[in-house]
Amino acid sequence: MNKLTQFYGTAVGKKFVVAVTGIMMAGFLVMHMIGNLKAFAGATKLDAYALYLRDIGQDMFGHETVLWIARIGLVVAVVAHIFTIVLLVKQNHKARPVKYHVKKSFVSTFPARMMRVSGLLLLIFIIVHIAQFTFGEWLSTPFEEGKVYSNISHAFGSGWLPWFYVFMMFIVCIHLCHGLWSFFQTLGIDNPDRNKLLRGLAIVVSLVLFIGFSAVPVAFATGLIGVAK
Ligand code: HEM
Repeated sequence: MNKLTQFYGTAVGKKFVVAVTGIMMAGFLVMHMIGNLKAFAGATKLDAYALYLRDIGQDMFGHETVLWIARIGLVVAVVAHIFTIVLLVKQNHKARPVKYHVKKSFVSTFPARMMRVSGLLLLIFIIVHIAQFTFGEWLSTPFEEGKVYSNISHAFGSGWLPWFYVFMMFIVCIHLCHGLWSFFQTLGIDNPDRNKLLRGLAIVVSLVLFIGFSAVPVAFATGLIGVAK
């Protein structure tokens, strides 16, 4: 335990925690996007998938137990991610209280600033999003537990919400893109020979997620897939 806290006390240890928790969240995003795309297969398929998520491990642990373990794991990852980033920023300030006089370029500081702004927006989005689609109390769209297709079709069938979601998916993917690049650096696999490839990989993964997530609200908003009656 002492070794672990000692490791966490170092900048490398903290970067490791940020990287691992970041990858856990990215893994969740990939699974979530694949699940959402079932909307294109229709209400029966999407709702069956939502039910399946609640039923995983039911025979052994009971209804929704595994889902709740996954939810708690995700919340712990989000809290640890944010908490550790705050500690890292403080640690950096302490190590270098007086700023260098070298003027940093906009290009070098913009992504880092964007990470803070996009991270904060993301946190607010996740809270509103869960209130809307998991508990169904927000934005007064008709909501019925487990009727995921109907819930999202009513939410995205008209108005500004689908386009707000597309904008938020852009923010998610900007955050993810820079996060993935930092992840490669933390792993120490960045190298002038392959940085182009690694940056390209981060962009492609983020772009796939942006398109995959945005497809659902856009499809409902444009009438490509139907609104549940
Ligand atoms: C267009 C994009 C998205 C759509 C249509 C969407 C839709 C949904 C729906 C319908 C649910 C409830 C599922 C159920 O009750 O089984 C849900 C849950 C959730 N979503 Fe999203 N989502 C989107 C993007 C995101 C993003 C980008 C994040 C994270 C940054 C996210 C995080 C979550 C979380 C944490 C839950 C709660 C999961 C649970 O507790 O079961 N979603 N989403």
